[in-house]
Amino acid sequence: MKIFIDTANLDMIEEINSWGILDGVTTNPSLIAKEKTDTPSRVKAIAAIVDGPISAEAMSPDSEGMIREGRELAAIHPNINVKLPMCIESLKATKVLSSEGIDVNMTLIFTPNQALLAAKAGARYVSPFIGRLDDIGSYGSDMLAQTVSIIDDYDFDTEVIAASIRGPVHVLEAASAGCHIATIPYDVLKKMVSHPKTDEGIRTFIADFEKSKK
Ligand code: E4P
Repeated sequence: MKIFIDTANLDMIEEINSWGILDGVTTNPSLIAKEKTDTPSRVKAIAAIVDGPISAEAMSPDSEGMIREGRELAAIHPNINVKLPMCIESLKATKVLSSEGIDVNMTLIFTPNQALLAAKAGARYVSPFIGRLDDIGSYGSDMLAQTVSIIDDYDFDTEVIAASIRGPVHVLEAASAGCHIATIPYDVLKKMVSHPKTDEGIRTFIADFEKSKK
């Protein structure tokens, strides 16, 4: 499973990139606003750090605007893909952008049927939101697993990105479902590294090593 980081914070991206495990980055308008910046300049800065796909969200309400904005965002760097929110206008824009070789990440996916339509329109990525479904009492990971299985059953050039991840268990569920990519917040990535028994083991080995030198 490829690992993306879900943030627009450059320090976090640099740190996780230095671990050698980072395959890409997703941003969204809320993450960009948190950094008090704008999408074009921030994704340009991210592309200078990470060698992998970077999602930049287009905000136009209609397909013509999405296509125009998508072309502008994609022109910033070859690794940039255009994030569009699932709707009819986005499907139309995806058809055009994908035919021009511009990758689209269809976001705000909450059902496998939405993912199916996005893949049919030519989306390179579909992003089912797990956490936000859990928030309203549904099983986000069940929806994700069903989506992965449908996309894998057909000959789509589409990868599923597990999105809206809230904790390490979501990552585990995405990996168990054979999800192609998970976009993970910084704090969840940090939690995935540690285990109390690992820390205890490291302490014991260091203490025993020191004793053996005496
Ligand atoms: C995905 O690309 C989105 O940026 C993200 O995962 C949204 O997650 P949230 O529900 O934590 O805002």
